Amino acid sequence: MNLSLNGIVFQKKFGNPIMDKNNGRILVTGSDGLVGSRFLELSENRDYLHTPAQVDLDLTNTGDIYNLFQSYEFRAVVNFAAFTDVGEAEKQRNKKEGLAYQVNVVGVKNLLNAVKPLAGKIQFIQISTDMVFPGSMEMKGPYEETLTPRIPTDKLTWYGFTKAEAERQVMEEMQDSATIVRMIYPVRAKFSIKTDYLRKPLKLFDEGKLYPIFSDQTISISFIDEVAKALDKIINLKLFGIYHVSSSDTGTPFEIVNYLLEKTRGVKNAVKPILLDEFIKNTGSSPLRYPKFGGLTVRKTQAKLGINFSPWRKIIDTLIAQGITS
Ligand SMILES: NC(=O)c1ccc[n+]([C@@H]2O[C@H](COP(=O)([O-])OP(=O)(O)OC[C@H]3O[C@@H](n4cnc5c(N)ncnc54)[C@H](OP(=O)(O)O)[C@@H]3O)[C@@H](O)[C@H]2O)c1
Repeated sequence: MNLSLNGIVFQKKFGNPIMDKNNGRILVTGSDGLVGSRFLELSENRDYLHTPAQVDLDLTNTGDIYNLFQSYEFRAVVNFAAFTDVGEAEKQRNKKEGLAYQVNVVGVKNLLNAVKPLAGKIQFIQISTDMVFPGSMEMKGPYEETLTPRIPTDKLTWYGFTKAEAERQVMEEMQDSATIVRMIYPVRAKFSIKTDYLRKPLKLFDEGKLYPIFSDQTISISFIDEVAKALDKIINLKLFGIYHVSSSDTGTPFEIVNYLLEKTRGVKNAVKPILLDEFIKNTGSSPLRYPKFGGLTVRKTQAKLGINFSPWRKIIDTLIAQGITS
């Protein structure tokens, strides 16, 4: 059976809508990263994904982008590519010539310059982060989808500021046809190249090096498998707007890591708690790096996509069933 929605033809196959091949390719940047590479494994559109490596498509190189858009017609762009090292980005604070600003702001602008003339024919999906919000006492999370951050630079990490600038550009350039998908601490069962919010403490525990964990910070986590599912839906139905993909609940890092260690290593209360303010006072760390009142809410995204995201305990249970390795 074929269905038509917004001019896009879907084939009914095993109950799932599958894109018609004739609807063109989907450009995926950052496809060898932590999140992008799992999207490639799981996407029901995987036969239509175009996934250049950074050597072939460097977002800071306008020539690379021009050549690519001359060679292919894309139906959608999913921009995972980013400078994601928050600590390194901080060393570049206020330096627009630094790589963080160049990739996250100028790179997105370069992509938008290629996409904007094709508006209406092409969907642009910018992958973003909870770090566009401060997580501070003055503006507490968990944050709703409808919030669009206009936070001064000195209230965010430099990484968070560059990602917020990217969001602002996407909204300005694409207007009603902008799509932004925010995540927070994306996790998966296996990925040898880069660790994540759960596999890192697991590894440290196994090495006997686990440090005390914050017991007064509010966070949520994003299950990358659910990110992939949400993205497929957003692409297949050509949905615009701002979406959050995160656990449906929040917790403290202390609760989350304790649960993980209890379930994977059979140890109870293996984690020592520490208060965030105490840690900041003792180490002289920047509070911007450790947003106390964070997390993303997903209520509006769930309603729009018809997807229920898992609470964090269920995410951990599923990762264990998938054979999580540190
Ligand atoms: N990880 C998190 O905690 C987190 C949380 C929320 C949101 N996000 C967002 O999710 C997205 C994916 O994050 P991730 O953790 O998967 O990142 P990642 O593992 O660091 O991967 C980043 C990807 O971007 C590519 N890239 C970097 N600079 C580039 C450039 N100049 N041109 C083209 N490609 C470039 C990298 O290529 P190489 O491998 O060749 O360097 C890599 O494929 C990002 O937009 C990030 O801001 C991440």
